[in-house]
Formats: sequence, C-alpha cells, structure tokens
Amino acid sequence: MENQVFVMNHPLIQHKLTHLRNKTTGSKEFRELVSEIAMLECYEATRDLPLEDTQIETPMGMATTQVIAGRKLAFVPILRAGLGMVDGVLALVPAAKVGHIGLYRDHETLQPVEYYSKLPSDIKERDVIVLDPMLATGGSAIDAISIIKRSCPKSIKFMCIIAAPEGIKAFTEVHPDVHVYCAAVDEKLNEVGYIVPGLGDAGDRIFGTL
Ligand code: PRP
Ligand code: URA
Repeated sequence: MENQVFVMNHPLIQHKLTHLRNKTTGSKEFRELVSEIAMLECYEATRDLPLEDTQIETPMGMATTQVIAGRKLAFVPILRAGLGMVDGVLALVPAAKVGHIGLYRDHETLQPVEYYSKLPSDIKERDVIVLDPMLATGGSAIDAISIIKRSCPKSIKFMCIIAAPEGIKAFTEVHPDVHVYCAAVDEKLNEVGYIVPGLGDAGDRIFGTL
C-alpha cells in the first residue's frame, strides 16, 4: 500500500490545504485553492511521463533537447466536486481530453449512484487521471475507476486532495494497480461518512450550495 499512495507534502500544497480546510474560506477562494492544489499535484502525478529526444534550432545553433514522448492524457473528473480540479490540471496539460463520470453518494446508504458517463472515444490510447477532491469511504472512486476500466485505457491514476484511511484501504484492495496521489491522509470518517478533520462537503463549498 505504501508504494501505491503518494502523499504530496510540498510546502505550497500544505499551505494552500490549510486555507482550503478553514471554514471561513468562501467559495471563490475555495475554488481557486482547489484548482491550484490540483495543478501542483498534477506536476507530481505526471513525473513519470516518458521523454524522447528532439532536434531544435535555438538562436545560437542546433540543440538536442527533450519532449514528452507522444503520450496522450485524459482527465476524468467525478461530478460534481472533481470539476473543481479540471482548470488546474488543464493549465499544465492543455492538450489532454476530458471525460466525465457522474456519481453522487446516497446520503442514507453512502453508496455511489451513477448518473452520467462520457469518456473520450480514443480512451484506449490514453493514460487517465481521475479527479475528485475527496476519498472518503472510497465508494465513488472505486466505482468510477471500475467504469473507466471497462473502456481499457492504457493506465489509470487517481488524484484527490484529502483521503481517509478507510477509503485508502477499500480503494487499494479493489484497485491495487491504480496509484493514488493526495495532499493529506486524515484521521478518520465520522458516523455519517465525512472526513475528519477534512474540509466539509467539497462539492457544496466549490459551488456554494451549502
Ligand atoms: C463527494 C466527493 C466524492 C465522494 C466521496 O461527492 O466529491 O465524490 O463524495 O465519498 P466516498 O469516498 O464515500 O464515495 P458527493 O457524492 O457528495 O457529490 P457531489 O460531488 O455532487 O457533491
Ligand atoms: N465528500 C465530501 O465532500 N466530504 C467528505 O468529507 C466526505 C465526502
């Protein structure tokens, strides 16, 4: 499990996460912080992209330099809260395609309910990074990735901001092949499935629907 879950403790990420958690942070700043943290996490989650040599001419002469080796990416936010991470990751990888998986957690059962799915038609040729700020029980991420696996992408990673230990355990048992990138692993889930200390309901704070 240790080799599957990467906690990104970069000072910039941790500083922004503190503001994100603060209950006095309003929707506008919350959205900006989610986007910025997603961008910083994406930098780390794409560290293993392969490079290839290319020849270019600088104003001073010829140079052999490197570019990303034709690898195609797709980002797949889990609706709704995952949408908040899309701008940040696209700022780093503007050529990536974006799919969407619509899931919500039934408040009584905590089980994810699927209501939408639209993935890029060439997903088989792509490496996929699934986006959702919260990994709580793990149900939503587990189901989203099971749905995406049916389309056989080249690889899948999961990027969140806060994870609960319970969610990590459930997720890594079902999808041991999917690396998880997060900014923090919190203490626990409360009795209604919210992460403690967490940040509250990410979707509601992003979209101001509290
Ligand atoms: C939240 C969050 C995750 C899910 C995590 O979404 O954004 O998708 O809960 O919980 P889990 O790990 O226990 O499945 P929610 O269902 O509240 O929908 P929303 O994004 O529309 O607010
Ligand atoms: N979804 C959220 O948005 N927050 C939590 O703490 C758990 C699930």
